[in-house]
Amino acid sequence: MPRQFFVGGNFKMNGTIKSIKDIISGLNDAKLDGETEVVISPPSLYLLLARENLKKGIEVAAQNVFDKPNGAFTGEISVEQLKDSGITWTILGHSERRTLLAETDDFVASKTKVATDGGLSVILCCGETLEQREAGTTTDVVTSQLKAVADKISDWSKIVIAYEPIWAIGTGKVASTEQAQEVHAAIRKWLSDAVSSDAAEATRILYGGSVSEKNCVELAKQPDIDGFLVGGASLKPAFYDIINAKA
Ligand code: G3H
Repeated sequence: MPRQFFVGGNFKMNGTIKSIKDIISGLNDAKLDGETEVVISPPSLYLLLARENLKKGIEVAAQNVFDKPNGAFTGEISVEQLKDSGITWTILGHSERRTLLAETDDFVASKTKVATDGGLSVILCCGETLEQREAGTTTDVVTSQLKAVADKISDWSKIVIAYEPIWAIGTGKVASTEQAQEVHAAIRKWLSDAVSSDAAEATRILYGGSVSEKNCVELAKQPDIDGFLVGGASLKPAFYDIINAKA
């Protein structure tokens, strides 16, 4: 079965009630490729606003979720609370949280387990720094981030992997199609060896890092690139072109 093309929009800590409503009505009215699965991820304060105003068929993702069911965890949101609000996805392990908030591979893996066990789908991010790429350790870095998850879960059916080289995020410096395809193929091989050939065949692997309406079509032609996780461009009409990259 071919893997369904997937485009996620990660708004990060951007937006206001007005601007997010504008983005939503733009998406509701835009002509989008019906074959592409689309998920947008506004800041937590606006998740319900997004869910209540978006048309059916576009899903909403949190940018994080906690790995405890409820209780005294100030500032956190649980899997059940997201589901109670109609939020079906969460991003986990974004490099901004790994670096700025010191999230470890183990913590990301624990949250991934709790989220998928609880019925949420997960956009699981991984990626290397420029220093790690230049040292030739990209595959080791990425696969060890993923191994932490594989040590805790065996069912990858609710996971979409997002490969996001840190040096390409928000920099305008997109990975070349060859660089991206090479890492995506290595991730797929790792899935086959470490999880199963079925998981390798079925799991979507997204590219993220300065994706734009200009570079998305070439990237989308690569055999192991199954979609995108888009930051900056997801706040603009360019997002429609990225959703339609395969059309
Ligand atoms: O989650 C999205 C990525 O961090 C990419 O962000 O498209 O602004 O480079 P960007």
